[in-house]
Order: sequence, then C-alpha cells, then structure tokens
Amino acid sequence: MCGIIGCAGHEGRTLDTLVHGLSKLEYRGYDSAGVALSGSDVQVEKRAGELDALRDALAESETDLAGSVGIGHTRWSTHGPPTDANAHPHRDCTGEVAVVHNGIIENYQELRDRLTDNGHTFRSDTDTEVVPHLIEERLMAGDDPETAVRSAIERIDGSYAIAVVIADVDRVFAARNDSPLVLGIAEDAHFLASDVPAFREFTDQVVYIDDGEFAVIEADGWHVTDATGSLVDKPVHTVEWDPEETGKSGYDHFMLKEIHEQPRALRQCLRERVNEMDGKVSVDVDFAPERVQFVACGTSYHAALFGAQLLQQSGIPAQAFLASEYATATPPIGDDLVVGVTQSGETADTLSALREARRRGARTLAVTNVVGSTAARECDQALYVRAGPEIGVAATKTFAAQVVALTLLALSTGDGDRDAIGALRKLPGNVQAVLDESTAREVAEEYVDSDAFFFIGRGLSYPVALEGALKFKEITYEHAEGFAAGELKHGPLALVTSETPVFAVVTGDGEQARKTIGNVKEVEARDAPVIAVTDGQSDVERYADHVLRIPAGEPRTAAMLANIQLQLVAYHTAAMLGRSIDKPRNLAKSVTVE
Ligand code: F6R
Repeated sequence: MCGIIGCAGHEGRTLDTLVHGLSKLEYRGYDSAGVALSGSDVQVEKRAGELDALRDALAESETDLAGSVGIGHTRWSTHGPPTDANAHPHRDCTGEVAVVHNGIIENYQELRDRLTDNGHTFRSDTDTEVVPHLIEERLMAGDDPETAVRSAIERIDGSYAIAVVIADVDRVFAARNDSPLVLGIAEDAHFLASDVPAFREFTDQVVYIDDGEFAVIEADGWHVTDATGSLVDKPVHTVEWDPEETGKSGYDHFMLKEIHEQPRALRQCLRERVNEMDGKVSVDVDFAPERVQFVACGTSYHAALFGAQLLQQSGIPAQAFLASEYATATPPIGDDLVVGVTQSGETADTLSALREARRRGARTLAVTNVVGSTAARECDQALYVRAGPEIGVAATKTFAAQVVALTLLALSTGDGDRDAIGALRKLPGNVQAVLDESTAREVAEEYVDSDAFFFIGRGLSYPVALEGALKFKEITYEHAEGFAAGELKHGPLALVTSETPVFAVVTGDGEQARKTIGNVKEVEARDAPVIAVTDGQSDVERYADHVLRIPAGEPRTAAMLANIQLQLVAYHTAAMLGRSIDKPRNLAKSVTVE
C-alpha cells in the first residue's frame, strides 16, 4: 500500500511537482518517502518517516536534484521495516534505473535469488528492488528502454503499479496489475499517479490505466499499450471536483473538514436519484436480486451491515460478510448478487472476495466512491456514492454516503416510499443541524481520561455502535468496543465500571428503544456513565448522564444522524489527546494487501 507519482515536464520545477504530488498521496501510506529525477544520470533522495523528513533531506542536500522527468513514492511497508534503505525509489547496480512500486511482487524471492547468482547486489529488504535489476539485465542485453521495462514487468507475478525512469531517457514508463494507476494530461506536463489528487492542481484530464496495460509519458505526449504492445485507444475523462477539495479549507484536520462536508456529500449522493412526488428511487443499476451477499471491510463492513438490514426489511434476504473471511465462509451463491462496499474500490480483501464470487458465477455490484477504481471496473455494475475525495484515513463522509446509497438501493426495489424519501431529503439539513449544535466536545472533555469506551445499539443502531467504536479506537488509540445492546449481558458487562462510559444509541420510542433502555439500566446499575445519543422520542434521557441530541425523524435516517455525533466525539477526544488524527499510527487509507 503506497502512493506513486511520475511526472514528465514542468521543466525547472519537476521536483516540486513530485513532492507536491506526494503530499496529496500521503494518505496512502506515510512511513517513508522518496523521489528520483532523471537527466544525464538518475539522482535519488529518500527517507524513512513522513514526507517532511524527505523535504528536510532535499533542503539539506548539497547537490540539487535536476531533470525534467521524475518519479516519487510514499510508502506503507509490506516487505521490510520503514528505513531509508527500504524507502523507494529503488535502483539497479549501475544506478541508471530507478523504480517506484505499489503492491506486492509474489515471486520476488525466486527472482532475487537468480539475480544474486548472476552478480546483482541488493541494498534493501523490499520485493520492489528486483524490478530495477531485471530492467538493468534487459538493457545490458541490448533492449531499448521501453522493451527492457516491458520485459522486466512480464517476469513479475503479483499486484503492482510501477513507474520507472532511466538515465538519458526523457520518459516515465509505467504498468499496472491490480493496483490503481491514472494518467494526467496537462499542456506543459504529463503525470502518472496512484490517484488523481496527486496532479489535480495541474489538470482535470485523466486516463484510467487498466490491468495489463503499459503507459509511457513524456513532456509533450503519452501513449498506452496492451500486453501485446498494441496501442490502446483510451478515453480521456474530465475530473469533476476542484483542487481545493483536497485542501483543509481552514479546518485543523481533513477528518474534521470531511465530517463537515457530509451535508454536501449526501446531497450529491441523492442528486437526481429520488422523486419526492411518488417516493420512487432510481439508482441507474439493474437491481432485482433474489438474494444479496455484501462483502466489505472495516467501516464499509458496517455500512454493509446497515444495507443488509434494510434489504431484509424490504423482503430481500441479505447477509454481510467480512471480505477477508469470505473465501473461508464460502456461502452458497445460487442467483445471489454479490455487492462489494468499498469507498476506495481498491481494498485487496474486498476485491479478492468479489473475484471469488465472480469465479463462482455470481453477478457483482461495486458500491464505491472512486470512479474508475478497480472494484468499479471489475464488477458488472457500479453504484457511486459521490462523497468526493476523502483524505483523512478515518472514513467519515464516505461511510455516510455509503449508508445513503445502500438505503437508495433498498428503496429502489419497492413501489415508492414517500416517508423514506422525505426523510432522506431532509437528511443533509439535519446533519447540518447536528454539526451546528453538537455538544460532543463537552462530552469528550468530560470522559477523555476514562479507562475504556463502549458503544451499544440495536437494529440499525447496532452497525452505528460498531462504527462509533471503530472510529473512536482508530484515532484516539484508546480501548473502545461496540456491541449489540442485547449482547452486553452475555459477557461484556464484566468490563463495565464507573470508569467506562457507555454510549447508547437509542432512537424512536418502539420496542427496540424500550429494550435498549433496559440495557442502559444494566450499565447504569454498574455505575457506568451513560451518554445517550437520541432523538428524544423515548425516556432514555432519564437514565443518561449526558445527551447527544439528534433531530427526530425516520428510523433509517435517525441512525445515520447518531453516527455524526459519534464521529464528533471520536474527533474531539483524539484532538484532546493530541493524536495524529488524519494519519493514525499503523493505518493507511487504502489497504491494497490481503
Ligand atoms: C476506518 C476505515 C477502514 C476502511 C476499510 C475498507 O475508518 O476507513 O476500516 O473502511 O479499510 O476500506 P474501503 O472502504 O476503501 O474498502
């Protein structure tokens, strides 16, 4: 899991362009970073640590890195610890070839052994380093640069997006298999990157590279070829979001900015999909399944649990699976539709579950935020959640948009539900009201020093409780767990003390609320502070030490509003603890390894 960038052009400022691009890709990994510039020779600078360590090294370096083509990399370790030596780019023995790579080379050990026997010396523990040596071997054998890169790549198995520069060659070569790669077209430069924000400031014209394709950029041109070397006529897409959307816009953290962007994200998700007059929904996908299996990870799995409940309520049998367990669970497929919920569209566990489903004959649907992502392209159909780019590692607005998109999907199977559509229409405004009036900061202040934090909910509030706990633990580094409210008494209650606040999501005033209030009383009797996240319909407030209020409404949207309060509690607690909110330790935005 890493971010790569390549640039050809921007003469005199190529290095700045690369470092700027890396700053936009840091969300993909941030344990080391490096760049290589190619002119008459190839110069490399790379450092363990966040991008600032590389910036410092470049500022202190006695020789200026020069050249009008270059590559860069921001790393999240898979082979070897984050050290200067393991940072990319990696070079061959002559130092004339430099390579950056995102993915995993499965046959690297075999290649490395053979290359070592043939006299190649390796300087890192990485799988990537075999690539420059393979290219060197082909160049020595007399191949021209493009053929050398192509034949080196043919020898590797696994997942990769790779970019290469070679001394005295004013082009960047790249290839992809199972890792994202997109090409950018500007007047004075061309780019290759793992993701569009890396070069969005310079162009909105992009080409999505597909698996098995090979791309070449130079300052004034580009081309893409397929595995046989034939030119591919690739469509050029226009990116619709602004470069400012990838900045912090005055917020202290991307996460807080993205939490506040939720009203807009939801409006975008709903746009032109709902008809308030007849309560009908149209999501532009062919969706009339017998049964549905969801596959997803982490936060997206919580959205999938939510979606599965909604489909069940609409009479469609549905089940959510953790993508990483899907292959071992091997549920029967029959005529099921398998839906991958993945904001990035690049999560390896989810892609592999979708591939397994396809292999067994299922039709597949990707519910994703990223147009042109691998999931979107590999599935039979894609439903875009339209949340806009999300930079903070902790998913917030993409989760909200996933849940709304899945609600639309469930509603699209019915004859029209005006109540639900009315509630969805009001949702962005109600989210705004929660953001404006939330007292989550005071709650965070009161309980920041607690021993542990528990989150409970029932029905649609259960995935929200799980998500509240996940968000809390990943950015505060404090112990947090989410439970189905009714499960507390079957074990977790043993953990509950006066030092463990319990966040109880209680919406509506029906049977579910009544039962959850029973569970609230159980924790209250053990002296645990209770924070009720509620729409005020039930009398849960009588048993609560604090109340996080959400506007009263429909059950489906109530759970979504409760989630906003829990995002804010997690954010403010993490801010008080001084945590690295946008880039929590050990995590990365897009997990492209299984
Ligand atoms: C947590 C978080 C992760 C992701 C998970 C799946 O805040 O973001 O748990 O939800 O890694 O990622 P996607 O949705 O990209 O498949």
